[in-house]
Amino acid sequence: VSSPLRIGLAGFGYWGSKLARNVVETPGCTLAAVCDPDEGRRRTAGNQYAVPALYTGLDQLLGDPHVDAVILATPAHEHFAQARAALFAGKHVLVEKPLAMRADQCEELDAIASERALTLMTGHTFLYSPPVRALRELIVSGGLGEILYCYGQRLNLGAIRDDTSAMWDLAPHDVSIVLYLIGDLPLMVSAQQYALLDEPQEDIAFLSMIFRGGVVGHLHASRLDPRKVRQLTVVGDRKMAVYDDTDAELPLRVYDKGIDVGDELPDAGFGAHRLDVRTGDMVAPKIAMREPLRLEIEHFVEAAREGFRPLTDGRNGRDVVAVLEAAQSSSALGGVPTQVRRDSRDQRAAA
Ligand SMILES: NC(=O)c1ccc[n+]([C@@H]2O[C@H](COP(=O)([O-])OP(=O)(O)OC[C@H]3O[C@@H](n4cnc5c(N)ncnc54)[C@H](O)[C@@H]3O)[C@@H](O)[C@H]2O)c1
Repeated sequence: VSSPLRIGLAGFGYWGSKLARNVVETPGCTLAAVCDPDEGRRRTAGNQYAVPALYTGLDQLLGDPHVDAVILATPAHEHFAQARAALFAGKHVLVEKPLAMRADQCEELDAIASERALTLMTGHTFLYSPPVRALRELIVSGGLGEILYCYGQRLNLGAIRDDTSAMWDLAPHDVSIVLYLIGDLPLMVSAQQYALLDEPQEDIAFLSMIFRGGVVGHLHASRLDPRKVRQLTVVGDRKMAVYDDTDAELPLRVYDKGIDVGDELPDAGFGAHRLDVRTGDMVAPKIAMREPLRLEIEHFVEAAREGFRPLTDGRNGRDVVAVLEAAQSSSALGGVPTQVRRDSRDQRAAA
C-alpha cells in the first residue's frame, strides 16, 4: 500500500471549499495544506478541517516538502503562472477550469509536466459526471445515429465576477462536454458577447461551433437569466437526447424521434423521397449517480500515483481554451467566424 497523496489546496473560496471536502473524504489522499491570502477563508478552512498547514502565499505552499500535489482553485487569470510554478516545484497539479487564458500557455504547461513526469489535470468536472459519460457511450455506440447538431444552455442569475466574463466562467464546462461528445475540435467558432450590466465583464455569450462533417454546436452562457438552466440537447439522425444537470431524478432522456426518409416520390424528380416524422417513446436510462467532483479527485489521485495521463489532461484543457480563445477573437470582430488553432501535435490528425 503506497502512502497517501498529500494535497495542498490554493484558494479556499466557493469552489475551493468543495474541493477541500472531497479531498478529505477521498481515500488515498490527505489535505496537507491550504493557502489563501484572505484571512477569513484561512480561518474557515482551519475550523472545518484539521489542516496541518495554513499559508498566506503560494510560495510557502510550493516550498512545503510535505505537499506532493497542488490543486489551484484561484482566479482564472492566475492559473498559468501558478501552475507553472507548481510544476517547477515538482508538484502534480490539478488546475480549475480554465487551465489558462491562452492555448499556447496550456501547451507550455503540458510540455513541462511531460518533461518532469508530473500529472497535469484540468478541472473539467462535467466529464466525470455519470449522465455525461452515459450520453457519450450512447453516442459512441451509435445509439443516436449520426450527430447533426447540439446546443447547450448554462444560465442563472449571478454570480457576477469582475475578473471573468460569463463566457470564460461558464462556457468552459459546455465546451468541454461538447468536445468530449463529438470527439473533435470545431473547425470554426463565431461568438458574440454583451456587457449589459454596468460592469466591465460581459454577462452573456452566444457561441456557435462548426465541426468537421458540418456538425453544428451552439452554446448560450449567461449570468443574467431568471432561471437556473443547465441543459444540453443532442440531435442525431436516429434519436435525440436531452441532458439536464438540474434534474437529479432523470438527468438524461433519450427520445425516439426523428425524420425518416420514406418512399421515393414518383413525380418529384430523381432521388426525391418523402420525409416522415417519427415520434416514438422517451426513455430515461438508469444512471448510478455519484458526485462528479469526487470522481474527479479520485481520478487525479490515481493518475498522480500511477503516472497515467488523466482524461482531462493538459491537452484537453488546451483544446477548451483554444475554442474560447477563438470565440474571444470572433466576438471582438462582431462574430466573424474564426478558425480554432489546433495543437501542433494534432496537425497530422487534422490534415
Ligand atoms: N469545476 C467547477 O465546476 C467550478 C465551479 C466554480 C468555480 N470553478 C473555478 O474555481 C476557481 C475559483 O472560483 P471560485 O468560484 O471558488 O472563486 P472565489 O472567488 O470564491 O475563490 C477564489 C479564492 O482564491 C483566493 N486567492 C486569490 N488569489 C490567490 C492566490 N494567489 N493564492 C491562493 N489563493 C488565492 C481568494 O482569496 C479566494 O478565496 C476558478 O478558476 C473557477 O473557474 C470551477
